[in-house]
Amino acid sequence: MEQLFVFGKPVEGLSFTDREMESARLSANFAAGINTFIISPRRWGKTSLVKKVIAESREDGKLFVFLDVFKAKTPADFCGILANAVLKQTASAVEDIWENVKSFLERINVGIRLAPDQQSKLDLDFGLSKEMAPMESILSLPQRIAEKKNAEIVVCIDEFQQIALFDDSLTFQKMLRGIWQNQRRVTYCLFGSKKHMMEGLFDEESKPFYKFGDIIYLKRIPLPYWKVFISEKFSSAGKSISEEQIERICQTVDFHSSYVQQLCWYVFLFSGEQVTDEDVNSGIEELIVQNTALFESRTETLTPVQMRFLMAVANGIHDGFSTSEVISKYKLGSSASSVATRKSLLEKGLLSVEAGKTFLADPVMGLWLRQP
Ligand SMILES: Nc1ncnc2c1ncn2[C@@H]1O[C@H](COP(=O)(O)OP(=O)(O)OP(=O)(O)O)[C@@H](O)[C@H]1O
Ligand SMILES: [Mg+2]
Repeated sequence: MEQLFVFGKPVEGLSFTDREMESARLSANFAAGINTFIISPRRWGKTSLVKKVIAESREDGKLFVFLDVFKAKTPADFCGILANAVLKQTASAVEDIWENVKSFLERINVGIRLAPDQQSKLDLDFGLSKEMAPMESILSLPQRIAEKKNAEIVVCIDEFQQIALFDDSLTFQKMLRGIWQNQRRVTYCLFGSKKHMMEGLFDEESKPFYKFGDIIYLKRIPLPYWKVFISEKFSSAGKSISEEQIERICQTVDFHSSYVQQLCWYVFLFSGEQVTDEDVNSGIEELIVQNTALFESRTETLTPVQMRFLMAVANGIHDGFSTSEVISKYKLGSSASSVATRKSLLEKGLLSVEAGKTFLADPVMGLWLRQP
């Protein structure tokens, strides 16, 4: 049986709802060769969206390459992951891979491990040093393969924000932008789970990725979609849930996609044929319990003033942190230190800004903080 509610990992098929506008825009960008950044808070559905659009666009004759650079700690790691993905995912046969390595990466020492009859286990090991020249030939690989195949390639890079952590990241960012913007046959789609870091890659004119492409800000999946999605799931398992209860579930987690599905799962577990308000309460309690260890570890190194700042936001204060009233109620020190505390919490990814107002990045953390 298909899992009823799926959370914490990319979703597809019956576990996926809405994203109609975003899918249309992303697929139009792919078709037109427009680079795209996708930005959203954690676990709203970036990876799921990209995978869905790739799956739906395969027939268009384009080649798609999907890679996750979370583990890359250096530009050389990044290039290694990119080369592996590009070589394998654009090849129609294993021989293509050998041939492309020979013709395009002649100056690079490539070790190849191949388990017999298991193409997916093929692993290329790039002997890359810090020298730029071999990296440049890897970065131009998508364009060269596209030319050879007389095709167009879309390269989708998940967890792209990791490049901001590399030593001398700016030099590498300049190199990427310089090479990528001249690749006529290759389109890039860049996204990642750390919103603040992703935005930091292109938010100022001085940044290499400034105006590199279209920026899609994912929105919350709206209530009407959740109503249909959630009530159908419950009824497919012989249970019924009211529209008000669905609305309460969505609002409790501020329409955070992953938490909506997670909370639904607990409510489903605790309920009989007809969901009661008490079942929803129990689901919410379980959601907090499940996340407590995570919140404890994310806040254990915070200073008391940082904790009090979070508490202020959890209690519904979203601006005016430098006013004497807020400062004295939450003991935030001076107005300058209140500004500095807010900045440090934004950098830690614990706060986020929406329409000029400050919120907790994680809505369930708010429920946890407000617990008696
Ligand atoms: N279109 C969708 N329909 C229903 N649920 C969704 C959708 N997109 C995401 N979700 C929910 O959010 C969860 C996380 O999705 P996904 O991994 O795609 O998000 P993400 O933004 O890539 O996360 P991260 O920030 O961790 O990289 C899924 O497991 C699912 O519960
Ligand atoms: Mg993701």
